Amino acid sequence: MTAPLTDTFGRVHNNLRISVTDRCNLRCVYCMPEEVTFLDKSALLSFEEIAAFVRAVAPLGIDKIRLTGGEPLLRRELHELVKMLVAVPGIRDVGLTTNGLLLTSQAQLLFDAGLRRLNVSLDTLDPERFRTLARRDGLPLVLEGLAAARRIGFAVKVNAVAIRGFIEHDAAPLARYCREHGFEMRFIEYMPIGAEAWEREKVFFAHELLELLDAEVAPLVPAADADPNAPAAAFEYADGGGRVGIIASVSRPFCRKCNRVRLTADGKLRNCLFSLDEVDVKGLLRAEAVDAAEVERTVRECVRAKWEGHEINTAKFVKPLRTMHAIGG
Ligand code: 5AD
Ligand code: SF4
Repeated sequence: MTAPLTDTFGRVHNNLRISVTDRCNLRCVYCMPEEVTFLDKSALLSFEEIAAFVRAVAPLGIDKIRLTGGEPLLRRELHELVKMLVAVPGIRDVGLTTNGLLLTSQAQLLFDAGLRRLNVSLDTLDPERFRTLARRDGLPLVLEGLAAARRIGFAVKVNAVAIRGFIEHDAAPLARYCREHGFEMRFIEYMPIGAEAWEREKVFFAHELLELLDAEVAPLVPAADADPNAPAAAFEYADGGGRVGIIASVSRPFCRKCNRVRLTADGKLRNCLFSLDEVDVKGLLRAEAVDAAEVERTVRECVRAKWEGHEINTAKFVKPLRTMHAIGG
């Protein structure tokens, strides 16, 4: 057995987030600027290169993958990549995070390729606020995509970013919608990774969300089977009406339990969403024959260099140069 991917804080890394494109068909204010220059297509890792990377890291204990973007469904034939990744020995779980706009036409292809879990980003059920937050229209398409995903049999989580001034209006309607449709609702505290100026005051905190949902939707209790290592604190409705997850990335950072590394669309490996540096693996993957030992060395070094955690809550915090769309959510 190879040694696991451990850092100097004893954290074992089994979770790889792969961004397949930095492009997006929305412009969510918390994620990216309105005007943006996207990577040239030639800079993106090919599906073969991504699969080669996954084949090299699966033996190191990476068993869980999430495809992200940008908007991953903008990448043509994404289901082909899903097929390649679920076939890699050792990979036991592949998920996808999407804004849902293109889901209706792709959901069946993705399911047939072996994908079973979808996270759909949706911050509001109000078309006006959707346009304010995403700087584009698209709510009906997202809802249609969600319906298709449900029909086909995906396990669906709906993700909303908790921004003060917005989420107070949307949390309860979103949570009710999820209860009705059998989706797990998840809220994530607004983090300083987008283009807009971030202030702590703009975060609607986990405990406030919990109070709001408890009062306006239905009483919530901690989930019986809650995984203490998962980033989301899991709750369930006392009446059995489903689950809610709250990711307190700012008020209760989960860095101490972090098990993630990230591969950007242009082939840089990052040991944290908030990393200030990253290491190139594209060069290794573009070589005529991929040297798995060299990939292993690079990945181990990157994981070893991981810091204790982001410093969002301190004066030391430095915002990374890349915004969320160019890292991968
Ligand atoms: N804070 C919290 N979550 C964010 N996301 C994007 N930007 C931010 C931010 N600044 C989330 C989106 C999506 C995922 C890709 O990342 O809601 O669900
Ligand atoms: Fe696109 Fe997702 Fe960023 Fe919104 S949050 S702009 S949908 S990548």
